[in-house]
Amino acid sequence: MLIAHVSDTHLLVGGKRLAGRFDTGAAFDRLIASLARQPVRPDLILFSGDLGEDATDAEYRKIGAGLRSLGVPVRAVPGNHDLRAPMRAALAEMTDETGDGHLCLVDTSFPLAVIGLDTIVEGAPHGELCARRLAWLDNALKRCGGRPTIVFQHHPPIVTGLADMDSMGLLAGREEEARLIAAHGAVEAVLCGHIHRAIQGRCGGAPVRVAPSASHAIAFDLRPAEPYRFTDEPAQYMLHLWRPGDGLVSHAVAVAAS
Ligand SMILES: [Fe+2]
Repeated sequence: MLIAHVSDTHLLVGGKRLAGRFDTGAAFDRLIASLARQPVRPDLILFSGDLGEDATDAEYRKIGAGLRSLGVPVRAVPGNHDLRAPMRAALAEMTDETGDGHLCLVDTSFPLAVIGLDTIVEGAPHGELCARRLAWLDNALKRCGGRPTIVFQHHPPIVTGLADMDSMGLLAGREEEARLIAAHGAVEAVLCGHIHRAIQGRCGGAPVRVAPSASHAIAFDLRPAEPYRFTDEPAQYMLHLWRPGDGLVSHAVAVAAS
């Protein structure tokens, strides 16, 4: 099974530029073209949030049209720039909704079970897993018990060392998530976004893979008081190859080169 993992496109429409600088609409078009050119077609696309920059209907319409043009199933969770209602309305088949309105999902139709977690606090940059979402995750992991499983979410359940980004990281529920993942025992990876850099760590014994942004990067800078800043590094996405017996192997792919 081949999974394309894309994140943080921050799409803007109408020729607007993010921070006056990044044409994220054009970056999205390049991403779609790159995915379409992949010689081995992905079986599934996972989108780990911050699809749109301003969360407008027009942004989600363009995102939906681009993704649907690929003819590959897509599952998506929101990031801190997304708003649940317009995202769910425009991307209905790519999302699901819990009884209390979180855009979490479970998909057991693939060789790998897929759990999507909504980590956002709408309108705030940081994330959290509240008691309700942790209970939902506990139940979802039990549904996928005994099966190799992917969890994907916007805010990574790790502290990255990029202090300003960590201050708007997953501020509640991290330890509890790690305990639930450890109890499941067969989570192949926790796939995340938000940091706009390729980062790896661990959560409850499972590998954490933070995808770079498919549009614009955040600079690598470990000074604790340094505010985050954007930088010109290549737009990328991840391709995760899973085969029984081999487990999950993760490749970072530059949009421009593929
Ligand atoms: Fe984010």
